[in-house]
Amino acid sequence: MAPCHLEMSEPQNIAGAAGRDAQVEEVARRCGVRAERGRRFAELTSLRVGGAIDWLMLPETEEEAACVAGALEESGVAWRVLGAGSNVLADDREHRYVVLSMREVKGGARFEGERVTVSAGFSLPRLCVEAARQGLAGIEGLGGIPGTVGGALWMNAGAYGQEIGQVVETVRVARGGGVVEVPGGEVRWDYRHTSFKEGELLLGCTLRLRPDDPEQIKARMEEAKQKRFATQPHGARSAGCFFKNPPGSGISTGRMIDEMGMKGERRGGAVVSPVHANFIVTEGEGARAEDALRLAEEIRERFRREHGIELEYEVELWGADREYKDEGAASSNEPARGGEGGEK
Ligand code: EPU
Repeated sequence: MAPCHLEMSEPQNIAGAAGRDAQVEEVARRCGVRAERGRRFAELTSLRVGGAIDWLMLPETEEEAACVAGALEESGVAWRVLGAGSNVLADDREHRYVVLSMREVKGGARFEGERVTVSAGFSLPRLCVEAARQGLAGIEGLGGIPGTVGGALWMNAGAYGQEIGQVVETVRVARGGGVVEVPGGEVRWDYRHTSFKEGELLLGCTLRLRPDDPEQIKARMEEAKQKRFATQPHGARSAGCFFKNPPGSGISTGRMIDEMGMKGERRGGAVVSPVHANFIVTEGEGARAEDALRLAEEIRERFRREHGIELEYEVELWGADREYKDEGAASSNEPARGGEGGEK
């Protein structure tokens, strides 16, 4: 930034912040949703770290959520979507954008024949249990993923040979303040990644499942749960696997970090889980996002050096430098995005 710009930036930012607050309040009023201040990522993410949030908006229906997304876009206010917060590492600074929480957009799961229609904020584990009870198979392997349906869709969550993208018939997406129904076949469902774009808010979906004997589905679900209990930390503050497995390699990043002798490695309040080495868990009141990031970067550095592989993050890293667009500080690598973070 040029020095002359710096001299100008303070008064501009103050004016910008006041105008933006008024805009957020207006959006909240217009769409009839709650907007809160004084919240922190440390209370809203499973890693229990991360800094203050300028505004948290909490729609309760798909329509309200679509209204908020459209109105924020229109007014040029930057925003990000958070679901259960189980796949997000937000840094320790003050995050000066709107966090649109989808947690309350849950409604109920509606079953009709082989189909189930559900909103983005609905709990994925609960959906898996209800589907099993209805004698519908296809998502029983995902029962232990502690996220919302929206987050699972956003990143194509998967486990034990199943991915949510395999069973999606349609996804409801907020675009331009309205709701658009996108056929699952038009979405690219890659390994822990999809073709949904920033600015697209996922509101819900219809899944098409496969009828099967409820007892058998429950047994497979129980088997996946036991495997997960035996091989992954539970009850710990984690965001699931921190890194992707190197695509197409058949290599487990966790196994390799384990073989590098890094289980139990600690930086401040962050530890490489002694149970599964691709999990970074946080401990204690003093744990900071910075600790987890430092540890993660050290793992990446050693991985690069010893295996010549560049590990890709599986968790979403949310930097606070995503400022409001009207303050002119939007950075291209930290875009406003309408997808769900915080989920598996
Ligand atoms: N292993 C070790 N040490 C470890 C971790 C694993 O030796 O610290 C060994 C295991 O014993 C096993 C092999 O490595 O022989 C593979 O381990 P695992 O079955 O746990 O699979 P993974 O490749 O490490 C992937 C997903 C998990 C998912 C499981 C089960 C990724 C990055 N991880 O783990 O997903 O639950 O398979 O399907 O794709 C997540 O997405 O957050 C996640 C945890």
